[in-house]
Amino acid sequence: MMFFLVLVILASCTAAPTDLTGKMFTFPQATDTARVKLLTLKNDFKAVTVCLRSFTDLRRDHTLFSLSTPSSHNDFLIFKDATNNDVELCTRDAEVDFNLDYKLSSWSSVCGTWDAASGLGQLWMDGKPSVKKFISSNSNIRGTPIILLGQEQDSHGGGFDPNQSFVGMMSDVHMWDYVLSSCEIRKYVDELNFTPGNVLNWKELDFQIVDRVLIEDKQKTCSDQLSAAHKHRQSPDMDFKMEFFVLMMLPACAAGLQDLSGKMFIFPQKTNKAHVRLTASKQDFSSVTVCHRSFTDLRRDHILFSLSTSSNSNDLLIFWDDKNKEIEPHIRDQKVEYGGQEYKLNMWHSVCTTWDSSSGLVQVWIDGQPSVRKYSSSGSSISGSTIIILGQEQDSHGGGFDINQSFVGMMSDVHMWDYVLSSCEIQKYVDELNFTPGNVLNWKALDFQIVDRVLIEEKQSSCH
Ligand SMILES: *[C@@H]1O[C@H](CO)[C@@H](O)[C@H](O)[C@H]1NC(C)=O
Ligand SMILES: *[C@@H]1O[C@H](CO)[C@@H](O)[C@H](O)[C@H]1NC(C)=O
Repeated sequence: MMFFLVLVILASCTAAPTDLTGKMFTFPQATDTARVKLLTLKNDFKAVTVCLRSFTDLRRDHTLFSLSTPSSHNDFLIFKDATNNDVELCTRDAEVDFNLDYKLSSWSSVCGTWDAASGLGQLWMDGKPSVKKFISSNSNIRGTPIILLGQEQDSHGGGFDPNQSFVGMMSDVHMWDYVLSSCEIRKYVDELNFTPGNVLNWKELDFQIVDRVLIEDKQKTCSDQLSAAHKHRQSPDMDFKMEFFVLMMLPACAAGLQDLSGKMFIFPQKTNKAHVRLTASKQDFSSVTVCHRSFTDLRRDHILFSLSTSSNSNDLLIFWDDKNKEIEPHIRDQKVEYGGQEYKLNMWHSVCTTWDSSSGLVQVWIDGQPSVRKYSSSGSSISGSTIIILGQEQDSHGGGFDINQSFVGMMSDVHMWDYVLSSCEIQKYVDELNFTPGNVLNWKALDFQIVDRVLIEEKQSSCH
């Protein structure tokens, strides 16, 4: 984190190009200020290609790439129009709409091309071409450009609307002053060797960050990481030590702890009393991962995990908001909303939530699928005496239960760690393979108390 910060400061002071290979910009919240300004010395374009990769869950309008000149605010703009559910390409202030398959909560490669001679523009979504449409012809994009990620310009370098801001992750931004061939676009999409942008090049990027935009390592899927680790023949020493440590710890403090492997809690009715209180093995968390599996048919708001401290009743809370169809983690009483998730009723879901106080970023993994990384709260830890409850939501420390937010259904495999799990560890949890159990809450050695009607039963496995 520190290292990246230094890089960013250097880049903004000296405008020395930075190699951002393997990195991404994270835009963690909706604002009308946070942006990245991309710098180029070119100022006359008779043709353009822009390619980028983005990951968002925004169901509203948002900008992907905004280039203005003094004469034209939308001189080259790629914009998601949520009302009409299409993607707009603007050049020289003229706009056309493309009806494209733009998926939420997954990485998409977007390339836009235009040339002044024919006036034709085209968008490529994950390597699939749109029709070519006429936008504007006969005049170049000319004049000092201001190129922004994160905000859409309604004036040259300004006029930002928070309702059009980008929230999510963005990577691999390139711009060329010519139209790429379909083969070159295919190579870009497949992350093969392609000719990097001659106007903007992700491997030598001149940029300035304004407000809260983070540079982070691009999250790899677990299989990518495993093959990379295999290539480098990394030693598994670390893992061995970890497991050994856990093995040593268990017998020492085994009194009163139950191994719930293969078991589940059943919350069989709607009440404002029934709950399970979990005792954590430690307090004070500057970062955290909570994973659990749950099964419900509730078509109303409900709680999944509630941790309060004496200072914050929602210090770490995971909540389903049924009206907005959102998973809502709360950290230090700050709520983050994730819509459009695959949270179906009447089936088991694995939900893992991570947060760390240095970046303040939250992420939710549902059945192993990562969300956007969003900002909740940074700078201070979750500290003080904690009360952790399953089944009820705490509106005060250890109480304030609302029957209409109670959980009804089954819950299993609850673990909590005082660090952020890697995508590989999360995948292992989801797949029920060998993973390092929680060092704060461990389903295999759980310290808990049941209040009112909650049952422990064998987890049902389906009959094959
Ligand atoms: C943004 O959208 C919200 C909700 O639709 C609205 O209340 C608010 O006025 C909008 N803000 C601006 C600056 O347009
Ligand atoms: C719970 O919801 C029901 C039905 O919507 C409502 O009648 C009742 O007042 C609610 N109870 C509380 C405690 O909010």
